[in-house]
Amino acid sequence: METMRANVFRAVNAFGLEEVPKPLPGFGEALIRVTLTTICGTDLHIVRGEYPVRPGLVIGHEPVGIIEALGDGVTGYQVGERVLVGAITPCGQCRACLSGQLSQCGHGDDYQPIGGWRFGNTINGAQAEYLIVPNAQANLTKIPGTVSDEQAVLLADIASTGIAGAEAAPVRIGDAVVVFAQGPIGLCATAGAKLMGASLVIGVDGDEHRLAMSRRMGADVVLNRREVDVLAEVKRLTGGGADVAIEALGAQETFENALRSLRPGGTLSSLGVYSGKLQVPYDALAAGLGDHRIVTTLCPGGKERMRRLLTLVESGRFDPKPLITHRFSLDQITEGYRLFGERLDGAMKVAIKP
Ligand SMILES: NC(=O)c1ccc[n+]([C@@H]2O[C@H](COP(=O)([O-])OP(=O)(O)OC[C@H]3O[C@@H](n4cnc5c(N)ncnc54)[C@H](O)[C@@H]3O)[C@@H](O)[C@H]2O)c1
Ligand SMILES: [Zn+2]
Ligand SMILES: [Zn+2]
Repeated sequence: METMRANVFRAVNAFGLEEVPKPLPGFGEALIRVTLTTICGTDLHIVRGEYPVRPGLVIGHEPVGIIEALGDGVTGYQVGERVLVGAITPCGQCRACLSGQLSQCGHGDDYQPIGGWRFGNTINGAQAEYLIVPNAQANLTKIPGTVSDEQAVLLADIASTGIAGAEAAPVRIGDAVVVFAQGPIGLCATAGAKLMGASLVIGVDGDEHRLAMSRRMGADVVLNRREVDVLAEVKRLTGGGADVAIEALGAQETFENALRSLRPGGTLSSLGVYSGKLQVPYDALAAGLGDHRIVTTLCPGGKERMRRLLTLVESGRFDPKPLITHRFSLDQITEGYRLFGERLDGAMKVAIKP
C-alpha cells in the first residue's frame, strides 16, 4: 500500500505529521497532489478542542494542487491540470444546492447547517500530500497560468468568506462600511467592501500590523480600538452611522459594536464564528423598530465561486498574496501552527508546501 504524509488530529492539542494510506478516487471523486495549503483560524479551533472533529482526521480545508487521478464519472478535466478547490465543497445536486444555498449543502434530500464544509471536518482535509475531492465535477476549478499558487490558495476560504461578507449585506455603491476586526477574514471583507463600490471603508482592530495591512487591502480609515472611541469615530466619519457593519471576529463585543455603529436601516453582516451565548441588546436594535438587518454567511464554495474569485486576481482587481507572511514545508507544520496560533512575528497567513 502506498502512503503519504498528512497532518492528523488525534486529540485536543495532539496533532502532527503521520504516514497514512494514500487514497484512491472513487466514483465522482478526484485525487489531487496538494502543491500549497495553509492554516485557518478554524483549524486552531479544532486543535484546541473548541470545534470537535473525529480523532484520526486529516485537517485543513484550503487546497491548491495538480490532478493526480480522476474517478469514473468526472468529465472535462485531465490529469496534470492545476486546480483550486474551495474550502466548502457543495454536491451541486441536493435540495440546498439547487436552491442556491451551496454552503448549507445537505448531502441528499435535505438541508444541513454547515453541510457543505467537508474537508478537515467530516472527511480528510488538505494538510497532506494528496487529497480526495468529493463531487469533483462541482468543485475543481482550473487555475489560469498567470495566477500563482500563493495567490490562489487564499481564495479557497478567507477571500471567499471575507468578500462574501460584503456581498451578503449587500454593500451598495456609495456605502459607508465599517469592518470590525482585521484578521485575514476581516481584511478580505475590507477588500470586498471596496470591490462592491463602498465610498468609505473603515477598518477596526487593535493590532498595528493588521491596521497597516487594512490600508493596503483598501481601508480609507483605520481605527485602533485601543486608542480611539470607535463608535463615536464611526458616527462622526459616517454622519450618523454606517450603512453596513461587518463583524469578522465572532465575539459579543464586536457583534454589539457592529450593531451600534449602524445607521437606522443599516445591515450587520456577520462572518465570525461565535460560541456560548450571543445577545442582542434591545437599545442597539432600537427596540426592534430600527429596520436593521442581520445576515450571516458561511464561506461560499464550488467551482463557479472559485472561478469568479480567480478572475478578480487575474484582472488585477484583488491580490490576497500580501496576507501570506510566512512559509513552511509540510514537515514543519506544527511550527507553522505555533507561529500562526500565537501570531508571532506579525504572522497573518502561513503557506504550507507539501
Ligand atoms: N463565516 C465563515 O465561513 C468563516 C470562515 C473562516 C473563518 N471564520 C471565522 O472568522 C473569524 C475571524 O477569523 P480570522 O482568521 O480573521 O481571525 P484572527 O483571529 O486571525 O483575527 C482576529 C482579529 O481580531 C482582532 N480583534 C480582537 N478583538 C477585537 C475587538 N474587540 N475589536 C476589533 N478587533 C479585535 C485581533 O487583533 C485580530 O486581528 C473567526 O471567528 C473565524 O472562525 C468564519
Ligand atoms: Zn477556514
Ligand atoms: Zn448539495
